[in-house]
Amino acid sequence: MNIEIQIDRLSDELDRLASYSDLPAPAISRVVFSEQDLLARSYVRQLCEEAGLVVREDAVGNTFARWVGSDPEAPAVATGSHIDAIPNSGRFDGTVGVLGGLEAIRALQRSGFSPTRSLELVIFTSEEPTRFGLGCLGSRLMAGALDESCGTRLKGHVGGTLDEVRASAGFVGPLSAVRCPTGSYSSFVELHIEQGPILEREQIPIGIVTAIAAPAALRVTIEGEGGHAGAVLMPNRRDALCAAAEIVLAVEAAAKSSGSIDSVATVGLCNVFPGAVNIIPSRVQLEIDIRDTDLERRDLMLDAIMDSCHSLSRRRRVSAQVEILNSDAPAACDPTVVEALADACDIQNLPYQRMVSRAYHDSSFMARIAPTAMLFIPCRGGISHRPDEYASPEAIANGTLILAHALASLSQL
Ligand code: GLV
Ligand code: MN
Ligand code: MN
Repeated sequence: MNIEIQIDRLSDELDRLASYSDLPAPAISRVVFSEQDLLARSYVRQLCEEAGLVVREDAVGNTFARWVGSDPEAPAVATGSHIDAIPNSGRFDGTVGVLGGLEAIRALQRSGFSPTRSLELVIFTSEEPTRFGLGCLGSRLMAGALDESCGTRLKGHVGGTLDEVRASAGFVGPLSAVRCPTGSYSSFVELHIEQGPILEREQIPIGIVTAIAAPAALRVTIEGEGGHAGAVLMPNRRDALCAAAEIVLAVEAAAKSSGSIDSVATVGLCNVFPGAVNIIPSRVQLEIDIRDTDLERRDLMLDAIMDSCHSLSRRRRVSAQVEILNSDAPAACDPTVVEALADACDIQNLPYQRMVSRAYHDSSFMARIAPTAMLFIPCRGGISHRPDEYASPEAIANGTLILAHALASLSQL
């Protein structure tokens, strides 16, 4: 079987997809269900249709593009990732797995290969938590890890509830129908940039992911007392931002003191109300991201941070309401899918390394309903979630080639 990746075409498509953005290049911002996200979706859908794939969308906007195999009733082999992008990010996170997945399917079509199991490209809705505060929305719903009450419960940073926003984007119907019946997929493989420095440093073209770290997120709302920045004396203040500042440092300390380099914790969002230089902040909302490869250690961090919130709030005479937005287990990749990826690398003579993913992915949830593994390719300096994120055409072509070979063998199992 002669599988050839058309990397120039794939690079052009990645460029075009990057043009759907609310920020000038090289920065990308493509928040789920924004106008640019809808334009990007329709571009990708058009490419899938041009490839002769059968395209459908579910109630939350997950998009499925299927190359129907000779045994259409057999559980399909799926690949895919996301095209939403956090504000001020780069152009390769997620998109390589979507357009690379499509090119892998097209390369198999061109080679004359005929799949037994259907091959399906999945474009997941809202892998990034930007709009609704919860990542992997589409794959969570597919895996049944989220019930349909999220439609009214999840409120976007802008523009209403999930149900309202998806309806105005044209996605209607019960969210319960998004859940994938068990056995829908025989395997799932996600191609993604590493988002870390190891492959580049070791000069290894392919990473095969064996496990995905456990993420959690908290939202902390601190209520103090506002007032005149000149008139209220320091002993009388209940400044919500000063309390928040101590929480930020407690978050850093929880990760640094865990005893493991694998513990990380970040306060990436801080909204100050009312937000004027001469008003004492009365309310602050923080969002905190906490991760570890080890679930027990991650939970110890979570507990330490929540304890700090409570003790600080008492000491500073403010209230701190802590909401757990998510607290997910790590995911284990499936040995058979991992072996299929390793075999593909061996056949193509491409060195690989087994590794853990520190970032989360839709694969974290697909692993609950299908045997799953991930393929990583190097990215420059390990940089991601920044405008200077970069993966070379050669790295993308390597990943896409291995993906194509693995999809071919998985579709005949
Ligand atoms: C995914 O974008 C993550 O934050 O790991
Ligand atoms: Mn991301
Ligand atoms: Mn991603």
